[in-house]
Amino acid sequence: MDIWHLRGGNRLEGACFVQGSKNASLPIIAASIISPARSELLNVPQLRDVDAALRILRHLGCTAEQWGSDVYIDSAGLCRSAIPHSLMVEMRSSVIFMGALIARCGSARLSLPGGCQLGKRPIDLHLAALRQLGAEIDEAGGEINCQAQELHGADITLPFPSVGATENIMLAAARAKGDTVIRGAAREPEIIALQEYLRAMGLNVTGAGSGTICIGTFKPEKAVSHRIIPDRIVASTIACAAAATGGNVEMRGVDPSHFSTVLHFLKLAGCDIMNSKRSVRVRAPGKLSAVGEVSTEPYPGFPTDAQPVLMAALLKAEGRTVITENIFENRYRQVPELQRLGADIAVSGRRAEIWGVDCLHGSALTATDLRGGAAMLVAALAARGESTVFDDGHITRGYERFDMRLRSLGADIYLEC
Ligand code: UD1
Repeated sequence: MDIWHLRGGNRLEGACFVQGSKNASLPIIAASIISPARSELLNVPQLRDVDAALRILRHLGCTAEQWGSDVYIDSAGLCRSAIPHSLMVEMRSSVIFMGALIARCGSARLSLPGGCQLGKRPIDLHLAALRQLGAEIDEAGGEINCQAQELHGADITLPFPSVGATENIMLAAARAKGDTVIRGAAREPEIIALQEYLRAMGLNVTGAGSGTICIGTFKPEKAVSHRIIPDRIVASTIACAAAATGGNVEMRGVDPSHFSTVLHFLKLAGCDIMNSKRSVRVRAPGKLSAVGEVSTEPYPGFPTDAQPVLMAALLKAEGRTVITENIFENRYRQVPELQRLGADIAVSGRRAEIWGVDCLHGSALTATDLRGGAAMLVAALAARGESTVFDDGHITRGYERFDMRLRSLGADIYLEC
């Protein structure tokens, strides 16, 4: 059990670097097995989910190590195509190994993935698309068994731009005979990052960042080096923490275009936002203003992952904000905990109505999920007095040395592991 001890009230001030993206790293680590190659990945965050992905690689027969923020993988020795349940449940992104394994081995056996409990999180779109590429898939008792004598290219239309399904299709299609087109593809920066890595691996793939991705021939390279993009959700969290505390923080090594919708709402709330190509400064006023309506949408809309932390930043904002969560049906699990701090939030279905209060007061909270837990830290930093966040390892799944990072900005925070 991790126990976060915080004393709120300090303004966050100063500059910090933002870690590499977890959600870009994990699919790229899975992609490293599509052909026998050596991969060097730079700027990979040191997180439990990354460690779990590397353990899956080693179980499959690959060499995989992390030294600081560098990851070295050699997938030449891959000799298994089944992943045990104990490794699958550690994170949601383990599902991306399905596309990677059928690309490399023509078979994959795994169980349903883990990850945060944000709602149903089905994988029907992944399975339907892989079947279109020629995979035969049996599902029974939470076990998935995929076989493909030969994958063939297909014209696939996704009814919803699922990030995970887009990634799985890109990987499986990499080794298919003939071209594949994905229409209605997810457009997230992590999809563009996966495309960049797959190109370096030797795949002819274009279109990532638009709704149509085309996957053509593959001429495998033996060695690849790739730098992971900065984590836009960690950057959003730090920006929200700066806003919530009336702070003045410069985030370095980020790409402001990746989280411009979050910055847009912080600006509406009254913050000065100063962008350069690789950094963003958020300077907050003493009192934030409510921002009206916020709806989570697939990229380039407002990200569901940033919804809990923006909510936390606005708890003391003057006026009313209404959030509509359109991606996950169970993504307000942080709300009862934020109410313990004195927040005035009413949830009805997918809508959450927040009325700014004058003051939050410290309390004991329990982290419910990764981003919900981060929201509790943001709110506790803006609360008067001491808070404790009890966490069964959710927050450290996504935030690297977050206590140190926040402490370097002046927060009174200490993580007891
Ligand atoms: C989602 C987020 C992604 C975020 C990640 C981690 C979106 C669109 N995706 O990606 O930005 O980084 O969580 O928190 O915001 N769905 C189906 N069937 C499927 C797949 C998905 O119905 O086969 C539905 C899900 O239930 C959900 C929505 O589509 O309502 C989003 O799914 P998807 O993008 O696939 O989720 P993740 O890949 O986990």
